Amino acid sequence: MDLVVEGRLFLNGELEQGCVGIEDGRIVAVKKVLRGDTKIDAGYRIILPAAMDPHVHFRQPGLTNKEDFGSGSMAALHGGVTTVLDMPNTLPPTDRLAVLKEKKRIIRRRSFVDYGFFVTTDLPRRLEAMAPHAAGLKIFMGSTTGSLLDNDDNSIHRMLRKAEELSVPVSVHAEDDAMIFLAEAESLKDHLRNRPADAEFNAVRRLAALGAKGVNICHVTRAEVLDIAAEAGMSCEVATHHMLLDINSPLGSRGKVNPPLRQPAAKEALYRAVAHGKATMLGSDHAPHTTDDKAEDFHICPSGVPGVETMFPLMMAAVKRNDIPLATLVRMACEEPARRFKVPKGRIEEGMIADLAIYDPREVTTIEGARLYSKCGWTPYEGMEAIFPQTVIMRGEIQLKGGEPCGETIGRDIKDGTI
Ligand code: DOR
Ligand code: ZN
Ligand code: ZN
Repeated sequence: MDLVVEGRLFLNGELEQGCVGIEDGRIVAVKKVLRGDTKIDAGYRIILPAAMDPHVHFRQPGLTNKEDFGSGSMAALHGGVTTVLDMPNTLPPTDRLAVLKEKKRIIRRRSFVDYGFFVTTDLPRRLEAMAPHAAGLKIFMGSTTGSLLDNDDNSIHRMLRKAEELSVPVSVHAEDDAMIFLAEAESLKDHLRNRPADAEFNAVRRLAALGAKGVNICHVTRAEVLDIAAEAGMSCEVATHHMLLDINSPLGSRGKVNPPLRQPAAKEALYRAVAHGKATMLGSDHAPHTTDDKAEDFHICPSGVPGVETMFPLMMAAVKRNDIPLATLVRMACEEPARRFKVPKGRIEEGMIADLAIYDPREVTTIEGARLYSKCGWTPYEGMEAIFPQTVIMRGEIQLKGGEPCGETIGRDIKDGTI
């Protein structure tokens, strides 16, 4: 056995003392007692499957002053995430095979964590060409960073049918563009007025009417949407910013994000619904913009907040406060993304890739932007409680030690057949 990790393991929804045996990057045994060449004794600490973030914007190529795969994947590790799915609004947009291949070439050997790429297109032929290499299809029903948009029912229907035929998972930015206003905005309240919850409700209802079973709704902001989507057989992804921040958060343009932060009551209702297990996945929608970008006038500054690094640690602190069950967090952040995108990760089980994260539940810290690894250098969660991982193992390799990234850029593309 190359490596044995011993401690309180998360197995079948509970913590249980035991050992994980790892060989050639895979979990080969889970037993009470195991011997190995190297042993990590985690003691009373808890050992969880590492998380998978199904929604990040790592900005490479084209916008690498905001982030690149080196900094973004280091941030992911710092937050206990060993697999990320990157969105297609890079420059040029990932909307055809040649661009996708070039993006893969650029990012090869630059990532500390495993990754996959979403593509975007409203042309079925192009999706066909990209399908074998893409983690999923992203549809933007509302305009946001980048100029990608497909808000036409016929076109969406055509793409959903094609994606189903090709077994390509679909994620949707569900805000109906026809219901978004572009009035001058100076505050989070104005931004919310411009992008009302009705735009989100309407987009989700239209998807339901199109029979979008199996489709994933990104960054759901309202508890009601979780119910509408579940009824229509769609899955739902929720971001930490919509659960922890609202229009009264003193963030100014740093809190400008699409879909927008909502009213405090809506935020609380979403948080409660998620704690009750109503969301399918957690996704950070990590959308880094530099402090200079965010210092622009509210109306013109870009939308988006960073989050890949803080998503799991913030939720671990929520678990410690008994706000949310650990099993619900692990299901949303580890098991479900892995299952949905067919990555053999997310559970501590024989045969799975050995991606583990070790947490000390006693080590509650406060988030400081200056100590984060994302290139953007700031966080909307400054001062909030979090529990960061102490050790992260990916494919049996130690990638984070003593809370700091330490490994190599061994990240692999989940679609290139090597995983
Ligand atoms: O606020 C957002 N920022 N929402 C998105 O959908 C895109 C993202 C970005 O890429 O900056
Ligand atoms: Zn989006
Ligand atoms: Zn996004």
